[in-house]
Amino acid sequence: MIIQPRTRGFICLTSHPEGCAENVKKQIEYVKSKGQIVNGPKKVLVIGASTGFGLASRISAAFGSNAATIGVFFEKPGTEGRPGTAGWYNSAAFEEQANAAGIYAKSINGDAFSDEIKKETIELIKKDLGQIDLVVYSLASPRRTHPKTGVAYASVLKPIGQPFTNKTVDFHTGVVSQISIDPVSEQSDIDNTIAVMGGEDWKFWIEDLKAAGVLADGAKTVAYSYIGPELTYPIYRNGTIGMAKNDLEATVPVINDMLKDINGVSYVSVNKALVTQSSSAIPVVPLYISLLYKVMKEKNIHEGCIEQMQRLFADRLYGSNLSLDTEGRIRVDDWEMREDVQAEVAKLWEDVTSENIEAISDLAGYRRDFFNLFGFEFDSVDYTLESDELTTVNSLK
Ligand code: NAI
Ligand code: NA
Repeated sequence: MIIQPRTRGFICLTSHPEGCAENVKKQIEYVKSKGQIVNGPKKVLVIGASTGFGLASRISAAFGSNAATIGVFFEKPGTEGRPGTAGWYNSAAFEEQANAAGIYAKSINGDAFSDEIKKETIELIKKDLGQIDLVVYSLASPRRTHPKTGVAYASVLKPIGQPFTNKTVDFHTGVVSQISIDPVSEQSDIDNTIAVMGGEDWKFWIEDLKAAGVLADGAKTVAYSYIGPELTYPIYRNGTIGMAKNDLEATVPVINDMLKDINGVSYVSVNKALVTQSSSAIPVVPLYISLLYKVMKEKNIHEGCIEQMQRLFADRLYGSNLSLDTEGRIRVDDWEMREDVQAEVAKLWEDVTSENIEAISDLAGYRRDFFNLFGFEFDSVDYTLESDELTTVNSLK
């Protein structure tokens, strides 16, 4: 099968196995180039391990610290005539590379919100690893079925209180337009978003892992959050998703209490805005990211998921200084939020139009990162060749 990108809005319906493998390989090479993480994690569970920050966390642990990893995710293998999801190919490639390097790696594909998958994961930990010393929680999902009640929640991305009007871009065409998003009309929209993206499921995971005795003394757990600039506050931090992030962050002391007797600790790390399957779905944010990339690349401080997660592990979680903020959060969005960076982005934000966007933003970089997520637009991959899809699919599990 020859696989080409097929997009619908901010979704890409196809993924390229060899391109995804190339993406993983580049991330592994980056982590190796940074050297071993001193006193890094040894046995790691990554929930949401197949794409974005979770995949980068898994690669940082495995290739930066020789850690055994179990990855949980929700992905689809290819079927006849139809490619699988990028996260499936990423994970297949990751396992192949880890195995070749003699590093333990196994994956569980299923609904991480369910009790069944938690149980299956715990059994695998018991069987193969005994105990784990790090749990990374990196789920991003538009829906969650509650494991205790069976209620299905859908999250929304909306402002709260008043409509939000601002610039946005169609990153395929470069057309900049005004978008107006109506605020939530019911409290339930906020509650549902918290139910999906808040901290309850993280807490459930840690509760179950703890009760099963599979968390090692001194175990750490980390989940990811975002703050961003004031211009996206109405749609992000002060919107429905921001309420879910508040809830996630408020779960830290709850988990710390649970882990006290095993000397465990939990953190939220506030990460940088990056192109992932999840962030491309948020209005206004892709335009902000395009301008941010331009400014950060010019200042030589641009990072992708892998640079962020390698730095989180090496300098913060397992480094000499967590540099927590006043709310107790780890901040690897520190360079994004630098005053000089934000001042320049704000200025460009005023100026940006459909006419000048290619010149004053890094829309080209945004687009390339987007297609890279699905294994496309890597120079080293020949996209005119047939994809050896079945070989790649069979290599996972
Ligand atoms: P992503 O979409 O790349 O990754 C989501 C992961 O969750 C994938 O591995 C997917 O398979 C898994 N997943 C989704 N639903 C699942 C389910 N029901 N069961 C099992 N696995 C499931 O997203 P991204 O961007 O890496 O997000 C991860 C975390 O980082 C989120 O909490 C997000 O809010 C946060 N974050 C993202 C930023 C960004 O700019 N992309 C910035 C700062 C934080
Ligand atoms: Na992830």
